Amino acid sequence: MDKTNLQLTLDTRPFAFLEAEALVTYIFDEPDPIQGRLAEIDSSANGLLKRIAGSGEATGKTLEFTLIHAPGGLKASRLLLVGAGKREQFTGAILRRIAGAALRYLKSRSVKNFAFLIREGAAIGDNAQALAEGFITANFETDKYKTEKKNGKEIHSVVLTGYSDSEKAAAEKGLAVGKVIAESQNFTRDLVNEPSNVLTPRVLAEKAQVMAKEAGLAVDILDEKRIAELKMGALLSVAQGSAEPPRMIVITYTPTNAKPDAPVIGLVGKAVTFDTGGISIKPADGMEKMKYDMAGGATMLGAIRALAALKPNVKVICVVPSTENMPGGKAQKPGDIQTSMSGKTIEVLNTDAEGRLILADAVHYAKQLGVTHIVDAATLTGAIVVALANINVGVFGSDQPWTDKLLASAKATGEKMWQMPMDDEYREFIKGSFADIQNIGSGKGGGSITGAWFIREFAGDTPWIHLDIAGTAWNDDAKPWLAKGPTGVALRTLVHLVQSF
Ligand code: BES
Ligand code: ZN
Ligand code: ZN
Repeated sequence: MDKTNLQLTLDTRPFAFLEAEALVTYIFDEPDPIQGRLAEIDSSANGLLKRIAGSGEATGKTLEFTLIHAPGGLKASRLLLVGAGKREQFTGAILRRIAGAALRYLKSRSVKNFAFLIREGAAIGDNAQALAEGFITANFETDKYKTEKKNGKEIHSVVLTGYSDSEKAAAEKGLAVGKVIAESQNFTRDLVNEPSNVLTPRVLAEKAQVMAKEAGLAVDILDEKRIAELKMGALLSVAQGSAEPPRMIVITYTPTNAKPDAPVIGLVGKAVTFDTGGISIKPADGMEKMKYDMAGGATMLGAIRALAALKPNVKVICVVPSTENMPGGKAQKPGDIQTSMSGKTIEVLNTDAEGRLILADAVHYAKQLGVTHIVDAATLTGAIVVALANINVGVFGSDQPWTDKLLASAKATGEKMWQMPMDDEYREFIKGSFADIQNIGSGKGGGSITGAWFIREFAGDTPWIHLDIAGTAWNDDAKPWLAKGPTGVALRTLVHLVQSF
């Protein structure tokens, strides 16, 4: 599902003459909404749009749909107006959602192709990119294992229109970049969607290897033997309870004109293919969702897949530790003391706080491989859902300039992220009684922050950011622009961050 079967093309001919099952455009919530291109349509349709807006049927409220059949003056058989909210508040993020929501709206009505009309005065390349991202991510369905698909409903092609010949090159470029990013996001979502009986650490590593080969990236898969030789005791402690062996996936992107002393970005992602909690077992209710506990790793794999095609000027190393977290006769137990690859000893007070354990060794190993800047992504804590719900990604950083860069990339790509505090006082919570550190906080509350502090201990002086995506990597309900299930959140931000480094 990494290659989209949706045809996305650009057509600079006058939009009124485009033959399509529908022409889609958007309408702002403003006193006189029939302006610019809407006024053009209106005049050839004998004032139809002014009447619909005047009657209060189409208001421009965000994601309100108005479907008009057989509009006069257009070759398209339908006109779909999507509400875009206030013009002053309009952003690329809103355009992306409008594009996605329009695709899903028309798909559910058995439409197979449509044209999307960009409104007058839009910034060309960025908007074409947002449109491509919106369409391709919206077209992703999580019905892989359903033997009866959605009645075979499928969108085959979308044509972008409203661009002039002089805007064509910039728009084509934006479209191509958007395709790469969205297809990579769907690659991530496809991995996250896989159930844990299919996607074991070994299978994840195989899929990562295939992707890397296809993308022209260097790949090194560490099996359980090499993991043991390297003394990755924290990763092994989580894996010891499982019949499935762990893997450490390492993928490297090297730019063509790489300089020896240039910075290297490390993308580290938690990939627990199923988290039962281990001996500190989770309640049965909702446990099935823990197949998405590998979303951080899948996000990093998707990000480096996109970067391989976009060719930024900076070296990137992706490190993804993968294991199951299972109870059993060989599983680690609360109170066990483990020695991490760094040599730091860890008292495992709760076997369900396993993400930070595997990230400890992954972050240390990434540093050994030469990374100078780290970002990790993990479905790390339930506490981040309490703090930020399913709206914002929790951002934790050890270096404010590096963190600010990431926050700027999040803003630019329309992903909601919120920085959390990392005061030294929280570090006291994980001081060990019988070992160097303990894997859960002894204070009350602040569970996401103590989790972050634990990982930070292994990043040391290397500028480091941690993204807690436990609340945002999975949509419990479908959105108008996105299917229920994996979201692929943070990938766009990470790609932007590397590209703007
Ligand atoms: N994978 C979970 C975090 C999680 C919880 C992700 C809910 C998505 C939804 C993680 O391994 C975990 O179990 N964390 C514990 C930490 C606690 C024991 C300190 C948690 O959040 O309860
Ligand atoms: Zn856990
Ligand atoms: Zn977990």
